Amino acid sequence: VIPLEPDGVRPVRSRAPAASWLVALLAFGLVVPGGGCRPTDPTGRGVPGMDLSGVELTELEARGRQIFVRERCVSCHIVGAPPPSTFRGSARAPGRRIGPTLADVGGRFTDAWHHAFLGDPRRLIVTSTMPAYPWLIGPDGEPTDDARALVAWLQTQRDPDLPRDPDAAIAASLAAPTEAAAGALVYRRSCAGCHGEDGTPPAQMTERFFPPPRDLTEAEYALVPRDAGGRPDRERLLALVTRGVGRTDMPGHWYLEPADLSSVVAHVRDLAGEGDPDAPPPRLPAQRSAEDRRLGPGMWVALGCESCHGLSGRGDGPLAPDTIFDLTEGVLKGGRDATHLAWVIWRGLPGTPMPAFDAALEALGPEALSGRLEAVPEGEARTSLAALIARLPEMDVATRLGVLVDFVMEITDAEAPSSRLEDPRAPPPASDASVSDAPHPR
Ligand code: HEC
Ligand code: HEC
Ligand code: HEC
Repeated sequence: VIPLEPDGVRPVRSRAPAASWLVALLAFGLVVPGGGCRPTDPTGRGVPGMDLSGVELTELEARGRQIFVRERCVSCHIVGAPPPSTFRGSARAPGRRIGPTLADVGGRFTDAWHHAFLGDPRRLIVTSTMPAYPWLIGPDGEPTDDARALVAWLQTQRDPDLPRDPDAAIAASLAAPTEAAAGALVYRRSCAGCHGEDGTPPAQMTERFFPPPRDLTEAEYALVPRDAGGRPDRERLLALVTRGVGRTDMPGHWYLEPADLSSVVAHVRDLAGEGDPDAPPPRLPAQRSAEDRRLGPGMWVALGCESCHGLSGRGDGPLAPDTIFDLTEGVLKGGRDATHLAWVIWRGLPGTPMPAFDAALEALGPEALSGRLEAVPEGEARTSLAALIARLPEMDVATRLGVLVDFVMEITDAEAPSSRLEDPRAPPPASDASVSDAPHPR
């Protein structure tokens, strides 16, 4: 008889081969002299896939690993690399595990995703065969302390040997064939839980996640422009679905087969239907001169970006809507690349307060700007604006846009905080800026 652990670890009593195998392991060699029986030694040594010796866990994460064992997640899932002898041909090997390996699950989903999934997997993966764990998640969707610990531990599962290369996945998927049946299937499994089978998110999901999943039948997507044929642009859509939407619960899907990624994107383009094509931004000049680069801060204030985003980009401008976020953290919803930024500035983010600046970029003239100089605090921004006013007449729209794209690339470069403009009027930022601690796949 296996005594109950003081911390509530239940003895395993099941006839499932995996579980009885676990009982054998627990009974064998892991009985602590003078004490009860531990579910696993502190490093998880000896439990297939749980040998994490060498990995430093916080108290919470270590507790989470115990809960993973207690809840018998191991009967369906492996974590870590499977020890070579345990699975193949061994008489003691547990039956085939039906769950995917969780060796690389860390950071792929947000905590909120995990909580929703544990409460009822079919909410997110409508075809799921994984059991629900309602005792870990309250009826109101609130995770218990056990669930928080479990998820904290799942978030540490990051196998450095498994490559995470969204760019390679995007390139492979762009060249991959598209198949309608596969697209519908992948959509049903990976997307329908949040976005709805027909593209309109169910209320239980729009209430659970913030920002809520978007309606994919909408005439205008916020983050993906429509191509000349009037469908969401395939390349931009594929990049978004592969990388995920930064700062939100929308996960990345780089681990799907290239043909599946290509097919699910085709399915979404069908759901979106035909709409009005978006006029693309001008092609950015290949090379911007050092002199042009110094005009970035001036362009930022000339167009009024600072009125919402703040002079520094932290989201503290006088007109900041409450959905604004700190650009200097370096995580953008649509990714940090020049093409995306050019689109965001040119077309705005429809359905959000972020306006389109196509007309403003064209109309920008020295006369209107001269009056603004005084309003800009003395310093780099004002010097840059003065230089911009002098240069504007000879700058075409593509160059203007390029200057701004470069500047946004700079302020969103989390590694180079020195390039940020400081607002002499603003109080210094709190050192513990309220950054969400949910990791995001990136
Ligand atoms: C009866 C088998 C079974 C058990 C027990 C089980 N799972 Fe799963 N799990 C699955 C299957 C199967 C999937 C794949 C998705 C699907 O079709 O359900 C899955 C998927 C997952 C995923 C998503 C992984 C991915 O790559 O998409 C996570 C995370 C997960 N399980 C965590 C857990 C945790 C934590 C427990 C214990 C509390 C647990 N599972 C218990 C069968 C199981
Ligand atoms: C866990 C929930 C969740 C899942 C699963 C999910 N999404 Fe999303 N999706 C979101 C959220 C949240 C957003 C961002 C909303 C925002 O930024 O306002 C989003 C945004 C999007 C957008 C951008 C729409 C726009 O207006 O710009 C597209 C396209 C999209 N998802 C497609 C997909 C596809 C395809 C899949 C499956 C491969 C998928 N999503 C899976 C939650 C999800
Ligand atoms: C009226 C307020 C407002 C102004 C003015 C404004 N923005 Fe925004 N911007 C927003 C809001 C709100 C968001 C977040 C939208 C969302 O995702 O819900 C945003 C998002 C962004 C993003 C993030 C895109 C992503 O993928 O996450 C960039 C980059 C950006 N703005 C650049 C600019 C630039 C450059 C200017 C000036 C040319 C500007 N904004 C002017 C309100 C504004």
